[in-house]
Formats: sequence, C-alpha cells, structure tokens
Amino acid sequence: MDLGPGSPSRTSQAVALTRAGMSRPHTEQGDPGAQRRLCEGMTPIRRPRQGIWARTRFFDDQVLAAVRAGVPQVVICGAGYDDRALRFRSPGVRFFELDHPATQADKARRLRAMGADLRSVVMAAADFRDDDAPAVLASAERASGGRLAAAAERDRLAGSLRSRSAGGQRRGGPVATGGGPIRSRADAVGPTA
Ligand SMILES: C[S@@+](CC[C@H](N)C(=O)[O-])C[C@H]1O[C@@H](n2cnc3c(N)ncnc32)[C@H](O)[C@@H]1O
Repeated sequence: MDLGPGSPSRTSQAVALTRAGMSRPHTEQGDPGAQRRLCEGMTPIRRPRQGIWARTRFFDDQVLAAVRAGVPQVVICGAGYDDRALRFRSPGVRFFELDHPATQADKARRLRAMGADLRSVVMAAADFRDDDAPAVLASAERASGGRLAAAAERDRLAGSLRSRSAGGQRRGGPVATGGGPIRSRADAVGPTA
C-alpha cells in the first residue's frame, strides 16, 4: 500500500525490490546493477509480489525489442523505481519517465547518489489526477531539446492516463513512441513490473 500524498510510492518500492533479486537481460551499454543500487536502503519486503516475474519478463522483452528495432523514444508512465532507462540504455534512444512528484523526487535523489548517467533520461513529475501530463511531457521534451512525439500521440497518451487514473487508480507502464501512432501498446498504461 502507498503512503500519503507527499511520500514516495511504497508499492513501487516493493515492486523494485522484488525485481532487484531477479536475473534480467540488459543491453550492451546498459547497467545490470541499476535496480539493485536504486533500491539501496529501501525497507525489505517479506514476500515477492505476485505475478511480478512474468510481468517483468514481458515488459523487459517489449522494451528490449523496441530498442533493438530502432524505436528512438520510450515513455514510462508511472515509472516508479523502474530501472529500464539505465538497464536498456542504447545509443540514440531516450527514455522519458513520468511519475508522481513525491516518487520522482526520491528517485532523482537515489539516481544522483548512485552517480547514474542520465544523459538519455528525461524525468518529469506529474500527478495524473490533477496535472496535464501531456503538457508536462511537452515541457520536459523542450527542456531536453528533444522531439518526443506528435501532438496526436500526446493526446492519445493523455486519454489513456486519464482513463487509467480515474477512480484513484495509480498505475503505469511503458509506451514506445516513434513519431507515428504510439507503437506497441497504446493502451499499455497498465500495471507493470
Ligand atoms: C505499482 S507502482 C508501479 C511502478 C513501476 N511501473 C514499476 O513497475 O516499477 C505505481 C506507480 O504509479 C505512481 N503513481 C500513483 N499515482 C499516481 C498519480 N496520481 N500520478 C502520477 N503517478 C502516480 C506511483 O508513484 C508508482 O510509482
């Protein structure tokens, strides 16, 4: 269960801690130890979260396949302590991570502490219930000097975020973008691991 609105997501920490103990693929330039180091100092959980192994493998395969196919940008909504931006680092690929400000602040602090190379990572903070997530993405994109996606893609992403966050649901997932319609799973803004 997550803590209050000003606290980083405990659910995401539990997911990350489980993932840190898994054997997972990485790219040639990726950091296989990123998840473990991101989790340093987190309170250990007693039992691994159900279904995480299968979901982690699925999303690892999806992101790896997208990166290998030349997709230049991957947006991870509700990224939490997901380490894929570091694990699957590849030349010419940028990762955009969106999450609640409290979680993003804690993750940014951890990334700084571990001296992570963030040149290909853009972190943006938004509360999906109240903030205009596409505008936040657009602003992060401008600040990083990049070209994230066509307006139509952002609109589609926005619709997905709004419908998924309705009723207080707090979920996220990776979406690969390539300048056309959102690739892979346009509605992949679902629970991930
Ligand atoms: C179950 S965790 C999943 C984290 C990540 N996808 C992973 O697999 O490690 C849900 C994530 O959604 C984020 N989240 C929850 N509510 C949110 C909101 N209203 N706006 C933005 N992010 C939110 C949490 O901070 C948390 O990181």
